[in-house]
Amino acid sequence: MRIAIAEDYDELSEMAAHATAEYINNNPETLICLAAGDTPLGMLEILVDMHRHKEVDLSTVYYAGLDEWVGLGPEDIGSCAKVMSDAFYNPAGIPKDRIHVFDGLDKDIDKQCRSMEAWISHHGGIGFTLLGIGMNGHIGFNEPGTPDTKGCFSVKLDNTTKTVSAKYFGKSRPVSTGMTIGWRTLLDAQTGIIMASGELKAPIVKAAVEE
Ligand code: PGA
Repeated sequence: MRIAIAEDYDELSEMAAHATAEYINNNPETLICLAAGDTPLGMLEILVDMHRHKEVDLSTVYYAGLDEWVGLGPEDIGSCAKVMSDAFYNPAGIPKDRIHVFDGLDKDIDKQCRSMEAWISHHGGIGFTLLGIGMNGHIGFNEPGTPDTKGCFSVKLDNTTKTVSAKYFGKSRPVSTGMTIGWRTLLDAQTGIIMASGELKAPIVKAAVEE
């Protein structure tokens, strides 16, 4: 594990974008999993810009959505699918058949999870993942105390996650469950980056690194 400290958010975004582009350039055809929180938005913008300037070809790889709020669909503001389409997949022009995301509107959560597992396994596992960390230390929706994190599963959301969620929706939404790729499966990735930014995240980053 390597810890890199950036001067500010812009430098953090640059560092993460360049590391992601380098991985993709060296590993075309692999499966990439990018988190949809606020933290990666700057790095996604840089990555799309690098794609436009032909510094990386984002259409050579495949994508797996990290997680989703159960009850929110691809058109809902704040759904992980919409955030990623607006910030990344659409501006980069990624073909739809290269992207697989959880459908938060499907009542059959088990089917959604098995289908994501099949997509990951079809591509030989996740090559590279870019993750954030929640205020409670969650990665994706791997909430603290989730017992078995192999594969994909649904999770009852922790109170911190529910409170923080309002920032994505522009209004209060009664979310209670999430679907996610499990931490064990993410750890199997060849390379991974966890990004964190801002003073509010300092205590949880310290705890994650030291404890
Ligand atoms: P954030 O989310 O980037 O919006 O802070 C991080 C997370 O909850 O994983």
